[in-house]
Amino acid sequence: MDNLEQIVTSALADFAACGDPPSLENAKAKYLGKSGALTDLLKGLGKLGAADRPAAGALINQAKERLEAALNARREQLAQARLDAQLAAEALDVTLPGRGRGLGGLHPVMRTWERVEQIFRSIGFEVADGPEIETDWYNFTALNNPENHPARSMQDTFYIDDRDAAGLPLLLRTHTSPMQVRYARMHQPPIKVIAPGRTYRVDSDATHSPMFHQVEGLWIAENISFADLKGVYADFLKKFFERDDIVVRFRPSFFPFTEPSAEIDMAFGDAGEKTTWLEISGSGQVHPTVIRNYGLDPERYIGFAFGSGLERLAMLRYGIDDLRLFFEGDLRFLKQFN
Ligand code: PHE
Repeated sequence: MDNLEQIVTSALADFAACGDPPSLENAKAKYLGKSGALTDLLKGLGKLGAADRPAAGALINQAKERLEAALNARREQLAQARLDAQLAAEALDVTLPGRGRGLGGLHPVMRTWERVEQIFRSIGFEVADGPEIETDWYNFTALNNPENHPARSMQDTFYIDDRDAAGLPLLLRTHTSPMQVRYARMHQPPIKVIAPGRTYRVDSDATHSPMFHQVEGLWIAENISFADLKGVYADFLKKFFERDDIVVRFRPSFFPFTEPSAEIDMAFGDAGEKTTWLEISGSGQVHPTVIRNYGLDPERYIGFAFGSGLERLAMLRYGIDDLRLFFEGDLRFLKQFN
């Protein structure tokens, strides 16, 4: 009993010295646990005379209450300290300016693609999509490309080692024209469709890139003429370039899959000055052999097709003189279109 005050003093000091909840609970056990110092004193009460017992018991219980109160206070302190530390560690400086994510935007070629789709849809054309890995048959043979045509050569075309299920050679399509055949074989005329997409050739300079975009157009009906193709295409250009004074020239050309064939040129510059012609697209009346490959009767159906370069259209619309700018991913260039 004599050391009761000592025990209390030492316990209070111990509790205060504990820096975390586990050591505090250990300190508690040392004094208030089953064989703690204070508990031992309580157990020792039995040895006292009956007259001394109530007073001694009351003193020990008082001491016990003090320790428990101190213990709870310390527990709360530690919990609070831990919370404070956590809040400090996770503190937000609400005065910092926001980290704002820059808004992305559409690539100019994609803008052109969407614009072309929108314009052709508005004049009744469907929009179709097809594979970039093509068979030699759709890309060349069905389009009346002779076996020895230079475009078929290893220099112009990216061939793929694999073959298709029927054992046909596979390649990266060199133009969107195979979509003429794919679409016409699956739909009944009259057909009015465009097929924009990626195309590939072994080619690289300021106006050519190994991957580029084309939009194919196909119109099949029983009674249409070159004048209809001319009208539709001129109308498209007026809408695309947002000007009415566009002058279009159809310059005779050659493609194995069209006859007659024409290169579509567009006149730029002010009236009166020397005219500058810019080539925009290949076009022509679909060759009877190709109509047959569509699964249609060339005596009955007439087809007109065109294939335009989307980069080319974008370059003309935005006044860009180097096609490689489209593919370098330079934000200073790309941001100008958004
Ligand atoms: N496919 C041709 C090319 O890539 C363009 C074209 C399409 C020509 C349709 C005529 C008709 O050069």
